[in-house]
Amino acid sequence: MTEKEITFTVNGTERELRVEPRKLLVHAIREDLDLTGTHIGCDTGNCGACTVYKDGEAVKSCLQFAPQADGSEITTVEGMEDLPEAGMGESDLHPVQEGFHEMHGLQCGFCTPGMMLAGKALLEEHDDPSETEIRQNISGNLCRCTGYQNIVKSIEYAADVLAGREPPESPVENPSSGVEATADGGEPDGGRTDGGRPLDLTREYPRGDGDE
Ligand code: FES
Ligand code: FES
Repeated sequence: MTEKEITFTVNGTERELRVEPRKLLVHAIREDLDLTGTHIGCDTGNCGACTVYKDGEAVKSCLQFAPQADGSEITTVEGMEDLPEAGMGESDLHPVQEGFHEMHGLQCGFCTPGMMLAGKALLEEHDDPSETEIRQNISGNLCRCTGYQNIVKSIEYAADVLAGREPPESPVENPSSGVEATADGGEPDGGRTDGGRPLDLTREYPRGDGDE
């Protein structure tokens, strides 16, 4: 098959590739540019793991052929820390990255690069999005782990930093800050009915019938 030459800017650097016309953009990014932070979850446009920021919007890179990116400007998760808004918060990270770190917005991390770039695209348009707007914006990005609660808080954190507002304290660093974060983004006591009494890690609990 005749290969096509494409030239595009990825994370601020101009790149030239020769690709088969049928090659998906996500494969060009991962295989030819070795930027494996862009993930592949489904290859069919459903999960959003492959989301990149292309010419000012979040796009699913498994839904485009690589030649469609000719002449475009793309940011992947690897380039976020080099964007002009990086370092506006308390770290050198992009505010969206810092938000996910501070607000416990990830667990396994598989969805995270796509979520962050979807969040960045939203914050380019809205400096103070509502929770509903954030949820609508990330509705094309699936997360199997977090329950989304802390992803929303992470994007809200980034919105505050980018707009010069005081972001909430990290519940990870400051468990008494009043902002609750749990591993699944759900109720702090995990929905237990015993009042959320924590396990006493200093005592031995019976492991089952046969152990007593
Ligand atoms: S890999 Fe592109 S949407 Fe799932
Ligand atoms: S953090 Fe595991 S899929 Fe979202």
